[in-house]
Amino acid sequence: MPRTIIVTSALPYANGSIHLGHMVEHIQTDIWVRHQRMNGQTVHYICADDTHGTPVMLAASQQGITPEQMIEKARQEHMKDFAGFFIDHDLYYSTHTPETEHYAKDIYTRLKNAGLIAVRSIEQLFDPEKSMFLPDRFIKGECPRCHAKDQYGDNCEVCGASYTPTELINPVSAISGATPIKKTSEHYFFKLKECENFLREWTHSGTIPEEAANKLNEWFKSGLTDWDISRDKPYFGFEIPDAPGKYFYVWLDAPIGYIGTFKKLADTKGLDFEQYWKKDTDTELYHFIGKDILYFHSLFWPAMLHAANLRTPTKLFVHGFLTVNGQKMSKSRGSFITAQSYLKHLNAEYLRYYFAAKMNSSMDDIDLNLDDFMNRVNSDLVGKFINIASRTSGFITKRFDGKLALQFDETALPIIERLYAEATHIKELYEEREFAKAIREIMALADLANQYVDQQKPWDLAKDESRLATLHQVSSSCIEMFRCLSIYLKPVLPKLIQQIEVFLKLSPLSWKHLDKKYALTAHEILPYHHLIARIDTKQIEALVDESKNNLTEKKNQQAQYAALSETIGIDDFSKIDLRVAKILDAVEIPEADKLLKLTLDLGFEQRTVFAGIKSQYQIDQLIGRLTVMVANLAPRKMRFGESQGMVLAAGDGNSIYLLSPDSGAKPGMKIK
Ligand code: 2FM
Ligand code: ZN
Repeated sequence: MPRTIIVTSALPYANGSIHLGHMVEHIQTDIWVRHQRMNGQTVHYICADDTHGTPVMLAASQQGITPEQMIEKARQEHMKDFAGFFIDHDLYYSTHTPETEHYAKDIYTRLKNAGLIAVRSIEQLFDPEKSMFLPDRFIKGECPRCHAKDQYGDNCEVCGASYTPTELINPVSAISGATPIKKTSEHYFFKLKECENFLREWTHSGTIPEEAANKLNEWFKSGLTDWDISRDKPYFGFEIPDAPGKYFYVWLDAPIGYIGTFKKLADTKGLDFEQYWKKDTDTELYHFIGKDILYFHSLFWPAMLHAANLRTPTKLFVHGFLTVNGQKMSKSRGSFITAQSYLKHLNAEYLRYYFAAKMNSSMDDIDLNLDDFMNRVNSDLVGKFINIASRTSGFITKRFDGKLALQFDETALPIIERLYAEATHIKELYEEREFAKAIREIMALADLANQYVDQQKPWDLAKDESRLATLHQVSSSCIEMFRCLSIYLKPVLPKLIQQIEVFLKLSPLSWKHLDKKYALTAHEILPYHHLIARIDTKQIEALVDESKNNLTEKKNQQAQYAALSETIGIDDFSKIDLRVAKILDAVEIPEADKLLKLTLDLGFEQRTVFAGIKSQYQIDQLIGRLTVMVANLAPRKMRFGESQGMVLAAGDGNSIYLLSPDSGAKPGMKIK
């Protein structure tokens, strides 16, 4: 019996362009889906735009269009980008649909009936001009700790302090510029804690990767808290039943978008929807996600499904982030690359290949090193794979009327046998998402094929009329090797392999064709046409330049520098004890977008400091480096623990740069 599988990639936000970070996930999902299909499984691969929330509402109003118009435009663009990379979604839908609305309300009602919804009043900042509550990101003001101006409502980019928006000094609404007032309103909460027993069991039953399970243990330890699932009007989203003026928070209906999208697909294809979502279903459900949204997918989402008496995911496949040339994607370095920019300059399948060659089942980050990318594609795809056909098929066309020999060359048989025999192992690697290992094996097989060509020297055989039969068998053997390698690479390079199927006059290849039964003998093929070209450095340069230009436009709109602070005397300044500190450790705080917990060595003692530098630095770029800290700042209690000082960094609201002393400085040295 074939397996029946629903597969999802995380739903991209409607208010942003698709970039190469998204492509890591969609390419990983697509390769896995294509592997399953080649194996005869029934797969429904769905995705959608995540459309709700304040940012979409405001962006649409700024553009003078309705949110509906805005999200439809985004959806069309996103679909075009994904199609450009051959991502084979069965349906790319939206969360702003009747189906998702129906299930959001239905699931909410089930949670309410199960006693899992609490209602409480909370106080928030309210823009009196726009008559709306302000999300943290839409409030700016002075940091209550270090007094840096122009900081967001949730944490300070200068000192890393984390606070509530009501603590900001002189807050202003980033929407109208008005001074917000404090106002209370009723909010609806999902009582996550009551699902703790279920969650502890579910998360430790093989559904999430081992390394993510450790993260979850930390979350259980710090205690599960009620989740605020409502927002007041005006809000672009779905209204909560029996709660006029209250809307579901975007993260409540986003994952329900998986169900809504599947419902639409089921209606279109005539699938039995209930069969897939009932509690004891034997269908499978896999979510591919990035490690940044693990919290939502491993806690809220399964808890909601379980409490609503629906099926829970079979497994979460969690991947790491994309870095470019070893660093976080950065607009100023030209490494924040959109899907559209990439496609303007380079072949989509090259990126699919490169990502595959680096991907595994772990949560480790993936690096796109642009030089390595060019070398790898040129040497593997052009130099090793395509070369086998381009060096041998001409003889078949010119000397044998396009017909392959009746038999293979004796000396080629061990290689051909090996190409069939590796199928089990390589399929397993695809199944386990160990794509890098699969590619390594496949390229080792391509090496064998190339060595065979080099040994047999068909170009010499062609000069000797008496050895034509051997030439025929040798060239035909090479085509068989090429056919097998094409099958192995098909999940990764769907378009190229489709062109090869045309060239070899074959119907669509799948895993079962890796068998003697399907060997290409006495078969006619078409003349070889150039299939792929090498990457030239110029293409990479053009891509980086274009990505930098994309930034300049944005930057002109955004760059803001804080006004100069009031003058102080030398006495004031000398009160600050600045020291060289060595970063011994840096740990991410999952609930805080920007914060890292640093352990600093001052030579004579160690300190813990929370710093808002997560957006710019990789953990391993930090550990071991020297920086400068304020060592006599009074300790401050923050949401995640006590911060015992402050590290110095420069920033303009877009980026942040840690200060470091010249080499030679030692931990504990005083800055004078
Ligand atoms: O982080 C994000 O990009 C979200 N839009 C992902 C949502 S995934 C699912 F839950 F809808
Ligand atoms: Zn601050």
